[in-house]
Amino acid sequence: MRSHNKSDQLSTRASAVIPNGTYGHVSPAGSLPRHFAHFCSAGEGIEFTDVDGNRWLDFMCAYGAVIHGYQNPAIESAVEKQRLQGTVFNHPHEITVELAEKLTEVIDFASWSVFAKNGSDLTTWSIRVAREHTKRPIVIKAKGAYHGVDAWCDPGMGGRVKSDRSDILEFEWNNLNQLEELFKSNDGQIAAVILTPYHHAAFAPSVMPNEDFWSNVRSLCDNHETVLILDDVRTGWRLHDGGSHRYFNFTPDMSVYSKALGNGYAISACVGIPQLKNAASEVFLTGSCWNDAVAMRAALTSIELCGNESVAKSVLEKGNYFCEALERLALEFDFQLQMTGPASMPYPWFEGDENLFQIQKFCQAASAQGLFFHPHHNWFISNAHDKGTLDNALSLAQHSFEEMKNEL
Ligand SMILES: Cc1ncc(COP(=O)(O)O)c(C=O)c1O
Repeated sequence: MRSHNKSDQLSTRASAVIPNGTYGHVSPAGSLPRHFAHFCSAGEGIEFTDVDGNRWLDFMCAYGAVIHGYQNPAIESAVEKQRLQGTVFNHPHEITVELAEKLTEVIDFASWSVFAKNGSDLTTWSIRVAREHTKRPIVIKAKGAYHGVDAWCDPGMGGRVKSDRSDILEFEWNNLNQLEELFKSNDGQIAAVILTPYHHAAFAPSVMPNEDFWSNVRSLCDNHETVLILDDVRTGWRLHDGGSHRYFNFTPDMSVYSKALGNGYAISACVGIPQLKNAASEVFLTGSCWNDAVAMRAALTSIELCGNESVAKSVLEKGNYFCEALERLALEFDFQLQMTGPASMPYPWFEGDENLFQIQKFCQAASAQGLFFHPHHNWFISNAHDKGTLDNALSLAQHSFEEMKNEL
């Protein structure tokens, strides 16, 4: 096992002054506490170094927030120029308008855009826009889908009151009968349906939409004058450079982006159709540092790179190469591994591994080789992964399968 002395010391210090020490999706409890470091010190391309100096070949990309690699030179240089001018002012910087123009240019259905810092800021805001527009209370989501930290949708129980969820209904992903039933039994009350492009719950294989899923969801929303919101926070820019709806061939009324949008700089965006612009202007939206010119410059540069370098296509191709090779490698050791979901953000699933024992064993063995493979969350491919690094990761993975086979 790699040394984690400093990381452990920092965890102890953190626990003294921070509730839970490290929390949320980066909490050690959600991964492999004895095998992964808990604190990072630097990153470049697809590698990062932890506080103990261990180097890791990364397949999580800051849980999706990095798509062009850590410290991408084009983004860092644009950011540095912006930083010299300043970051947050009394008024928005010109970059705010440039970024909104860019988003309405690259997202085909969008005629307006707003900005915040996190995905949660705008998934929550978008359902309020839908409520304002329709003057209705109910929001429908898929069971097990994550849309952020707010009480209407967070996966925790702490600090919640019943009324937080009283107007939130759920259906099983892909179960159109259930969805139709919810529309029937709440006729005229449903403001919005909010969904991710495909179902990417943690601790479970990803589920793609059935062939008729999106066209039926769209029709149901149209027939009931309900707003269709796409939560593209995790998937945005990894499936299609013009928004993940294009990958699945449908059109939402609003889409929310964050994560890859700023390549590691904190920014989120919500875009929408012209018919929602009035409602959008009625729902209060602001934040202390939301007019952050540096993060916006990072986002604009990132979107330009995505277009110029066809990044979505590229990460899907790289992901396909990697996932197919990893599945073949697993078979050589008699493991039935399936890389579920789109190849640019695959979730690894060993057949019959309901208790997650095999995936934990595999990721644990991989961690000893310096591979950062997460056992319970989808992985992310970035455009900085190249064939050489993917081949290197595959040969390290081969040792991991060997070790796993020997141990079992
Ligand atoms: C699908 C989805 N929606 C919303 C969010 C919330 O975004 P944030 O963590 O930036 O608030 C996330 C974060 O992981 C997400 O994956």
